[in-house]
Amino acid sequence: MTSIVLYCRPGFEKECGAEIQEKAAYSEVFGYLKLTKNEGLVYFHLNDPSQAEQLMRKLPLSRLIFARQWFATIVDEPVELPEYNRVEAISEALGEEFRYKDMRVELLDTNEGKELSKFSRKLSVPLRQHLRKVGTLEPQSKGDVEDDRGAILHILFLSGQQAILGYSFVRNTSAYVNGIPRLKFPSASPSRSTLKLDEAFIYFIPKNEWHERLCSGLNAVDLGAAPGGWTYQLVRRGMMVKAIDNGPMAESLMETGQVKHLEEDGFKYRPRKKNNYWLVCDMIERPTRVANLMAQWLVDGDCQEAMFNLKLPVKGRYQQVMKDLQTIKDILSKNEIWYEMYAKHLYYDREEVTVHLRKLNRSV
Ligand SMILES: C[S@@+](CC[C@H](N)C(=O)[O-])C[C@H]1O[C@@H](n2cnc3c(N)ncnc32)[C@H](O)[C@@H]1O
Repeated sequence: MTSIVLYCRPGFEKECGAEIQEKAAYSEVFGYLKLTKNEGLVYFHLNDPSQAEQLMRKLPLSRLIFARQWFATIVDEPVELPEYNRVEAISEALGEEFRYKDMRVELLDTNEGKELSKFSRKLSVPLRQHLRKVGTLEPQSKGDVEDDRGAILHILFLSGQQAILGYSFVRNTSAYVNGIPRLKFPSASPSRSTLKLDEAFIYFIPKNEWHERLCSGLNAVDLGAAPGGWTYQLVRRGMMVKAIDNGPMAESLMETGQVKHLEEDGFKYRPRKKNNYWLVCDMIERPTRVANLMAQWLVDGDCQEAMFNLKLPVKGRYQQVMKDLQTIKDILSKNEIWYEMYAKHLYYDREEVTVHLRKLNRSV
């Protein structure tokens, strides 16, 4: 039984499952789900195993909101690992048919998973060496040529005795182990939520475009800015920021001279000039209200790009996000605005998803 295995935030398995099932059905790929609550893992068992590869080529991972990472299984059942010679057992189960570009040793994002981190680190080195020796893994690349062909081998340890083996395509996979970028909290930031915007920029904006889309000299508005974790991310990239919030902003940010604090209602404020590039918004509000506001800023030409959170309700979280994204699409289409929009439940997000919305020129 071939499955697609997806990683998500523990507690969001239902949303992740509903989404893959729905989006696979658009490509006429059908299957059933197996998930355990709070494990952060979803199995999508395919009715027709030959469709796994087809789906993983056709459906961009970036179009899945709740999945951090995915792979298709190589062997049907988890591989049973002996007390000794685990490396050989894995190698044997993989066979000699395929050669992979790289390998990711992964664990569940749970306490049990964390307890295995020492074990998996210890096993990774000999495993990698062995798989290179027998030709299952390509020799170490010199990193001088960017090549996005080929597949990544995933080894997911469920325990010290069991592992799931799978592959994802280099072109359509997360660049991070478990799909999680580990970011360092910058001590100069006034709040931890700074990591959310940091991750969002890394995830949604290609690095080779940072010099024009996340650069010094751009103007930005931060709605619901206090105490300034998000503003900090804009300031450190050299932007001039209008911080909108009735609450106080951190003194350290005000001292940079790059921030103007306006104690206004974020739902009413609009910049006087049309020279604002970024809109970021972290107001804790009804998601439908935020969705409408963000779309209207784009329609009115008050920003080129927006990064914002949509808070998730307690029930019907997937349905609510899809509804709010549809609201944005409807407003933009009605106003003949060309745009791109992606949404992701990022690692540093909790009960919210992050959305990136960008106005496109008609010639793009
Ligand atoms: C989650 S906090 C923002 C944290 C901030 N992004 C940071 O990184 O430090 C939400 C903020 O939204 C502000 N807020 C809520 N409703 C607002 C409104 N209608 N207008 C302006 N600010 C609002 C609150 O005062 C609060 O400071």
